[in-house]
Amino acid sequence: MTTNPMFNANPAFLDGTVKKLFIDGCWVEAKAGGTFDTTNPATGEILARVSEGGAQDIDLAVAAARRAFEGPWRNFKPDQRQNLILALAELVSKHYEELCILDTLDMGMPIGRSIQNRERVVGSIRYYAAQAMSIHGETIENSLDGEFFTCALKEPIGVVGAIIPWNSPLFATVKKISVALAAGCTLVLKPAEEAPLTPLRIGELCLEAGIPPGVVNIVSGFGETAGARLAAHPDVDKIAFTGSHFTGQKIIRASAGSVKSLSMELGGKSPNIIFADANLDKAVPGAAMATFNNAGQICCAGTRMFVERSIYDEFVARVAEFGSRMRVGNGLDINTQMGPLVSAEQLARVTEYLTIGAQEGAEAVTGGQRLTEGAYGKGNFVAPTVFRNVTDNMRIAREEIFGPVISAIPFDTIDDVVSRANDTIFGLGGGVWTTDVGKAHKVARRIRSGTVWVNAYNVMDPSVPFGGYKMSGYGREGGIHHVDEYLQTKALILNTD
Ligand code: NAI
Ligand code: MG
Repeated sequence: MTTNPMFNANPAFLDGTVKKLFIDGCWVEAKAGGTFDTTNPATGEILARVSEGGAQDIDLAVAAARRAFEGPWRNFKPDQRQNLILALAELVSKHYEELCILDTLDMGMPIGRSIQNRERVVGSIRYYAAQAMSIHGETIENSLDGEFFTCALKEPIGVVGAIIPWNSPLFATVKKISVALAAGCTLVLKPAEEAPLTPLRIGELCLEAGIPPGVVNIVSGFGETAGARLAAHPDVDKIAFTGSHFTGQKIIRASAGSVKSLSMELGGKSPNIIFADANLDKAVPGAAMATFNNAGQICCAGTRMFVERSIYDEFVARVAEFGSRMRVGNGLDINTQMGPLVSAEQLARVTEYLTIGAQEGAEAVTGGQRLTEGAYGKGNFVAPTVFRNVTDNMRIAREEIFGPVISAIPFDTIDDVVSRANDTIFGLGGGVWTTDVGKAHKVARRIRSGTVWVNAYNVMDPSVPFGGYKMSGYGREGGIHHVDEYLQTKALILNTD
């Protein structure tokens, strides 16, 4: 591996001090005094020691969020909330490079890609700023006896608990904060234990932006302790969760005691369908990056690559060649196309699936193993992998691997591929590659998932809703639907006689 880091591996935020919890506008240590280390998955080096928030800290953060919600925050007008969100957008833009570096250091994302997404990330924050001034209910004509005025008001849902994963810490954090602020809610955010640094740095930016104490709280800690307490907390009105469906199910159960409102953005095993009439020069890199992007650690990754039989051999060979040529390495190197997996656990999970695939009879055309030579050995690197001879019932074709592993499956007809593409517990993403518009439309309509891309993959826009069918969850992020999920509807029936 050649590393030729172009980016500063020592941002000022990593100053050797213990990173504290952000509660009620202050930086505080965990009540129980615990800390945990967060490491660089490319090198194994410890980056920082982070306060380990537990149930007590979550309780303090929820109490602060409640006080802010019942207190000064409820008097903030939409334009004031908009200004705060815009101030946050400006600060994220100003410090964008540093935030990307923290993401790369903490979870491995190649900076060559993230650094190009400034407008997408900042634009998404600005989108919610606009939404803050677009909240409206409705007046309703009634048939009541007498003079009545009836309307439906929109109100913020209250205190929101946001639990996020590690695969895109910057983007996940700013989305969850901006939508809550737009709706007038307050928030307790629990970052993933694998990647808490960027969320904590954004806490500093919230303070600098002038967001009042208690409106945004960030409590780093583990899922089974801090996360579980947040999910069960009786004074939390809503949980917004992004992560695995297993954890999603636990959160649904934990929240049942207080009947919370929930939004669940869970995993996937998305089909990416390549027809013989596709523009293959575009479909090859498109299909490869549909999975290899972020080392496959993307919820909507197009990991089930269905290829029309007449081009199966050629197409699979070309995608494998693309994978074999990818520059895998430390994400701080601007030339790196694929970084490490986030953690030793994730490395173990993914390599286990590589073994399972081989045992099930699939053939790794490229990759198929961990990379251990030289500097690779210190990090969690896996080679971009393309399996052929995959059948629908193999575990590598059914389970979310969350690594750079493509399962290539041949198909014959539209009906055949649609029913097999839908034969999954998930329904998050999907792709169709063809030059026939009618075919594209027909297939896209029949795929049961929250997003379908045609001749593209992983393209997102803040105005366009994103979310799952089936066990990929419910609720939508992005678009006008997103803010609505942070609002309550109140009927007002006013006797005007
Ligand atoms: P996870 O779903 O367990 O973690 C996501 C978040 O949930 C983290 O903040 C974690 O601390 C929290 N959490 C964990 N247990 C909790 C509990 N009992 N109550 C409340 N919060 C809890 O994901 P993990 O363990 O990091 O990854 C395991 C697998 O999950 C991956 O291999 C991948 O297949 C899948 N995954 C999918 C994601 C997606 O966006 N679709 C994101 C992350 C993981
Ligand atoms: Mg976990």
